[in-house]
Amino acid sequence: MLLSEEKKSILITGGAGFIGSNFVHHWCYQYPDSHVIVLDALTYAGNRQNIASLEDRENFKFIEGNICDRQLIDNLLKEENINIVAHFAAESHVDRSIISPDAFIQTNVIGTFTLLESFRQYWNSKDKPKNYRFLHVSTDEVYGSLEADDPAFTETTPYAPNSPYSASKAGSDHLARAYYHTYNVPTIITNCSNNYGPYHFPEKLIPLMCINILLGKPLPVYGDGQNIRDWLYVGDHCSALETVINQGKPGETYNIGGNNEVKNIDLVTILCDLMDELAPNLPVKPAQKLITFVKDRAGHDRRYAIDATKIKTELGWIPQETVEGGLRKTIQWYLDNQDWWQPLLSQEYQEYYQKVYG
Ligand code: NAD
Ligand code: DAU
Repeated sequence: MLLSEEKKSILITGGAGFIGSNFVHHWCYQYPDSHVIVLDALTYAGNRQNIASLEDRENFKFIEGNICDRQLIDNLLKEENINIVAHFAAESHVDRSIISPDAFIQTNVIGTFTLLESFRQYWNSKDKPKNYRFLHVSTDEVYGSLEADDPAFTETTPYAPNSPYSASKAGSDHLARAYYHTYNVPTIITNCSNNYGPYHFPEKLIPLMCINILLGKPLPVYGDGQNIRDWLYVGDHCSALETVINQGKPGETYNIGGNNEVKNIDLVTILCDLMDELAPNLPVKPAQKLITFVKDRAGHDRRYAIDATKIKTELGWIPQETVEGGLRKTIQWYLDNQDWWQPLLSQEYQEYYQKVYG
C-alpha cells in the first residue's frame, strides 16, 4: 500500500532552514490532516519566520532542539507517535566547512547517527511496522567532481567526497544505508543537486548574487567561473521527496535533479540580466559591471550533474520548473521579501563574509 493512503505523523528535522521550510509548506498543503512536528536547533541558518504562517495550525508543533539530543528525540518519536522522519537538519555550506569543520561532523554525522539509533529502537518497540519511513535527505556532492565529458552521477557512482561538508554527508549516508542492511530499518536516501528558490540563506551563490546586485556590491565569482552546477527549483525537490516517502523502496537511493547544468559565470550573468529587467532603481546598472573574479574555493569541485533516470522511471517523478521560470520567481521573491533577508546580514554574517571574501 502506498504511504499516501495512510494517516501520517511526520517529524521534519531542519524544517526552519531553506529546503526544510519549503518542504514543511509543501507537506502541510498536500496533507492538511497530517500531524507535523518540526525540530530545528535554529542555528544561524534556521529561521522560524520561514514557517511562522503555519504555526497556528492545530496539528502543527515547532520544537527548538538539537538532533544530537538523544533523550529529546526518544521522547518526540514516542509522544508524537511518529511514523515518518524527514531528515533535513545539517550544516550545509561548503565554505563554512572549510573554515570550521567541527560543527559539520557533530550535526551531520553524530546528529544523523543519534536520529537513526533513536528511530531504530522506537521502530523495534512498535514491532517493526512495514509502513514507517526514515528519509535521509542528502546531496550529489558525495559523488565528488566530474570532468567536462564524464557521464552524470547515478545511484551507483562511487562516493568520493572532497570537502569536509560532503565528507560528513557521505558519512551520514553510509550510516543510513547500514541501518537498512544491518537492522532492516526502513531508511531511504535521496541525493539531490543544487537547489534554489525562496528562503535560501544569503551565503549561497544565487541569493548572495541577488542581494549584492540590489546593494550595488561586487559579485564574487570563484576562480575562472567555469565550474558547473546542476540547478533544481526547490519546489521540484519537495515534490520528489514527497514521491519518495510515498512510493520509494526502503534501502534504496534515489538521485534527484533537473538536468539543468549551468556554468557559474553564465548563471551570474543571467541573474544580472534578470535583475536589470525586474528590479527598479538598481545602484549599478547594468549589473554585470559588478562581476568580480576572486580567489578560488579550496578543493573546488569542477562539475556536478545528476542522472535522475531512476526516480523518473521507477516512481514517475519529473521536475516542473524551467531554469528561466524558476530564476524569475526566485528573483521576484527576493525583491518582494527584503524584510526577510535584510536582518540576516547581521554582524555574525559580516564577520563570516570578511573571512571568506576578505
Ligand atoms: P540550511 O543550512 O538552509 O538549513 C539547515 C537547517 O538545519 C537549519 O534550519 C538549521 O537551524 C538546522 N540545524 C542545523 N544543525 C542542527 C542540529 N544540530 N539540530 C537541529 N537542527 C539543526 O540547509 P538546506 O540547504 O535547507 O539543506 C537541507 C538538507 O538538504 C541538508 O541535509 C543538505 O545537505 C541537503 N541538500 C541541500 C542542497 C542545497 O542545494 N541546498 C542540495 C541537496 C541536498
Ligand atoms: O550540490 C548540492 C549542494 O549545493 C548542497 O549539498 C549544498 O548544501 C549547497 O550549499 C550547494 O553547494 P555548492 O557549494 O554547490 O553551492 P554554493 O551556492 O555555495 O556555490 C555554488 C557554486 O558557486 C560553486 O561552484 C561555488 C560558486 N560560488 C559560490 C559562492 C557562494 C562562487 O563563485 N561565488 C560565491 O560567492
